[in-house]
Amino acid sequence: MKFPSYAAAGVLSACLLSAPAFANSTGMTGNSGKSAATCSSCHSGGTAPTVTLTGPSSLAAGATGEYTLTITGGPGLRGGMNVAVDNTAASLEPGTGSKKQSNELTHNAPKPAASGAITFNFSLVAPPSAGSVKIFAAGNSVNGDNNSTGDAAATTSLTVNVTGNNEPQEEEGGCSSAGGAPVLAFALTTGLALLRRRRRS
Ligand code: HEC
Repeated sequence: MKFPSYAAAGVLSACLLSAPAFANSTGMTGNSGKSAATCSSCHSGGTAPTVTLTGPSSLAAGATGEYTLTITGGPGLRGGMNVAVDNTAASLEPGTGSKKQSNELTHNAPKPAASGAITFNFSLVAPPSAGSVKIFAAGNSVNGDNNSTGDAAATTSLTVNVTGNNEPQEEEGGCSSAGGAPVLAFALTTGLALLRRRRRS
């Protein structure tokens, strides 16, 4: 029976024609919900999952925060994800099962569910100065048929407030060259004057 596999290949290539030129199950960027595109433009047929982002909602400038994307519900056998941020001075670092691609994060491969949830850990390095970073996340809950049918995705976001570094930026302890020269000159002249006085007496 060759027909079903031909039909599947036809559906696959039709979908791939409108997609970036890499295998979808091994990662997908540009679908975090940051722009209008999400995984739902291709993945459908399943009941919608719940996608949550947990982690600090406030970080000091330059600090690293640990975050978790959790997918529950939906077909729920395996899952994939895409995370992006709206601030180019912030950076995302992948955790187990994910990778960095085009400054975004995505799954390496469909990740199996454990205890009823599919989780992905990642970190966010806050920008060097105060502001905010919005994290966009899409989670796709799939049935493991290695196709985009019978699946469903959902998106969420989290705004992280980045607090400024208020520590004084001045040099401490050291003599700056601008202030040091007159002090040195004063010390030398007073020292010489004292020596002269001592010789006279
Ligand atoms: C342009 C269409 C398209 C978009 C958008 C898309 N996918 Fe897919 N995806 C596919 C196709 C086609 C497959 C079938 C296997 C393959 O091509 O690797 C697939 C397979 C998968 C699988 C394995 C499915 C299974 O049941 O075994 C996962 C997981 C997955 N994609 C995650 C995602 C995630 C996460 C997103 C959004 C961030 C996404 N995909 C967006 C087309 C898409």
